[in-house]
Amino acid sequence: MNENLLKEVWTEKYRPKLLGEVVGQKEVVQRLQSLLQKRALPHCMFSGPAGVGKTTCALAISRELWKDSWRGNFLDLNASDERGIDTIRVKIKDFARTIPIAGGFKIVYLDEADSLTRDAQHALRRIMESFSQSCRFILACNYSSRIITPIQSRCATFRFTPLKKEDVVSQLKKIADNEVLDYDLDALEALYHVSEGDMRKATNLLQSAAFDSQITKNKILKLASRDPERIRQMVALAENGSFKDARMLLSELLAEIPGEDVVREIHKYVAETKAEPQKRLEFFEKLGEAEWRITEGSDAYIQLSSLLAWIAVEGKK
Ligand SMILES: Nc1ncnc2c1ncn2[C@@H]1O[C@H](COP(=O)(O)OP(=O)(O)OP(=O)(O)O)[C@@H](O)[C@H]1O
Ligand SMILES: [Mg+2]
Repeated sequence: MNENLLKEVWTEKYRPKLLGEVVGQKEVVQRLQSLLQKRALPHCMFSGPAGVGKTTCALAISRELWKDSWRGNFLDLNASDERGIDTIRVKIKDFARTIPIAGGFKIVYLDEADSLTRDAQHALRRIMESFSQSCRFILACNYSSRIITPIQSRCATFRFTPLKKEDVVSQLKKIADNEVLDYDLDALEALYHVSEGDMRKATNLLQSAAFDSQITKNKILKLASRDPERIRQMVALAENGSFKDARMLLSELLAEIPGEDVVREIHKYVAETKAEPQKRLEFFEKLGEAEWRITEGSDAYIQLSSLLAWIAVEGKK
């Protein structure tokens, strides 16, 4: 086994250092590069799902601005970790005491800004105002709609999207080749399939899979507790009216796979089937309902049984 596997976390080892190395996110990267060229960085809001390059881009900006001394000019805060907005204010105050010679401002990166309550966001707006001479704020969030308008209007918004299949696969290929792994293309595509454009998730899974000598599609699916074939088989059973067998398979699957993941897998299956549009619409609606109930804490077995029952009834019509 490769000794290096235990030493380094690949998500850090392969985190792009400069904006030009960031995979995908073309529009975001180009806008950031042109702002940097003019040295006119505004307050920014980075919105988008997990593991797609938000923190990476903020770090890259700092590296491009301050080269090796970027660490002293970059403050990384997490809105949900900190003990409230007052702690955030104190930390920023401390940080903003000195101003770098180059650039004239420092960067405050506030992760999970959308976890702040409305009141805390209003306090944050005031903090942004009082430190706007010395600091540029980059607020990261999953949903920009959860950020109050007075903050939104003070920021340039950058929307990060899930990475495309070719981007994830090419980045994974780069990592796998550099680590001299024994893999095939199907395995990398399976990594994309289960990570859905989240590069952190894909890279972490690849690193876990690398403990095995050979990396294959089946190993990846097993590792990610995904089982698309059996999930499809379950839906097919229900469609053909074998409700009892479908439910038995469901209970086996739920012993290994979280309910939300089963829903996701069915969702992908429906998106790919050639069922008539009206039926697919209804299917999507049912899936959305089941997913919502499960994430709200409802029993996955009951929710998914109900979905299978609906499929069985619809299948008969
Ligand atoms: N666009 C990308 N190009 C190359 N690697 C990426 C990209 N996005 C993410 N990665 C990889 O995933 C890791 C995590 O990415 P990053 O920290 O930027 O995620 P994030 O968007 O800030 O997610 P979160 O919302 O969870 O904080 C990086 O260290 C890097 O290895
Ligand atoms: Mg981040």
